[in-house]
Amino acid sequence: MQLIAHAKINWTLSIQSRRADGYHLLDMLLSSVQFGDTISLEEADEITLSLSGRQTVPGDASNLAVKAAVSLKEAYGVKAGASIRLAKRIPVGAGLGGGSADAAAVLLGLTRLWGLDASGEELASLAATIGSDVPFCLVGGQCRVSGVGDRLRQIDCAYSYDVVIVQPCRGLSTQAVFSAYDRLDAPPKGPDTDKAVDMLVKGDALGLSRAMGNALHAAAVPMRPEIAVCAQTLEHFGALRAQMTGSGSAVIGLFESTNAAKAAYGACAKIWPKTILTRTAPYGVSMVSGKRSGHII
Ligand code: C5P
Repeated sequence: MQLIAHAKINWTLSIQSRRADGYHLLDMLLSSVQFGDTISLEEADEITLSLSGRQTVPGDASNLAVKAAVSLKEAYGVKAGASIRLAKRIPVGAGLGGGSADAAAVLLGLTRLWGLDASGEELASLAATIGSDVPFCLVGGQCRVSGVGDRLRQIDCAYSYDVVIVQPCRGLSTQAVFSAYDRLDAPPKGPDTDKAVDMLVKGDALGLSRAMGNALHAAAVPMRPEIAVCAQTLEHFGALRAQMTGSGSAVIGLFESTNAAKAAYGACAKIWPKTILTRTAPYGVSMVSGKRSGHII
């Protein structure tokens, strides 16, 4: 069975408050994009992971793909194991939900492969124990996400948007960026997600670009000044707006047409090797071959 684990991008990220345990309560508009990792699953005696691709990720039990398999096996008392092959393309420490997308694909894929009778709600609560972005990646498409990533509202959207993604520098740790945010003298609360949702649903790329924003941008830029340079460069090459996604360090540019995105992609790829041309997608995990074809969700 082969699956695509789609990356996610943030149109918005605002911070509502901080919980006693240090976690931040967020309000975000997220979209899946076509670009992603490829995951192959086969039944086996043990759970094993093999990696390919240029991105460096852990190959042991700390990898979220393995965590997802182990959690599912324990939750449903499964005797079998699985061999997981991960072709890693999504940049790491980028705010693109790469590890979470892999975990979501493994949860959905192994549910099929092991023939489990797991409801969407059961998988969602398991997902939340693996990582903050895993519940979104299970559902994918366009969602308003709040709480610590556990509250999701799916948004019907008939439009897709052209995006260029660039990681112009080393990755960032989510925890380090949230801590830097807490140390800001005047932490920005962030953008108006209501407005962004309205514009997204209407297919109004210019309106969406005006509503975009990320409260963590200001916290991350002192650690990786390349983020600000890259956002300016994407806008110079025609993005309606460019900003950091999630806790960085990748930057997304929104374009009003595929041609405009292609032109900026060509220019940015000469400067930064980790440049990706993609579009928003209506799913977080899709199946490319196996028992059934087509999209899982
Ligand atoms: O859930 P995830 O493993 O991605 O979170 C990594 C770290 O980022 C957490 O340990 C926490 O310090 C920070 N974080 C946060 N508020 C969130 C999500 C993550 O403070 N909503």
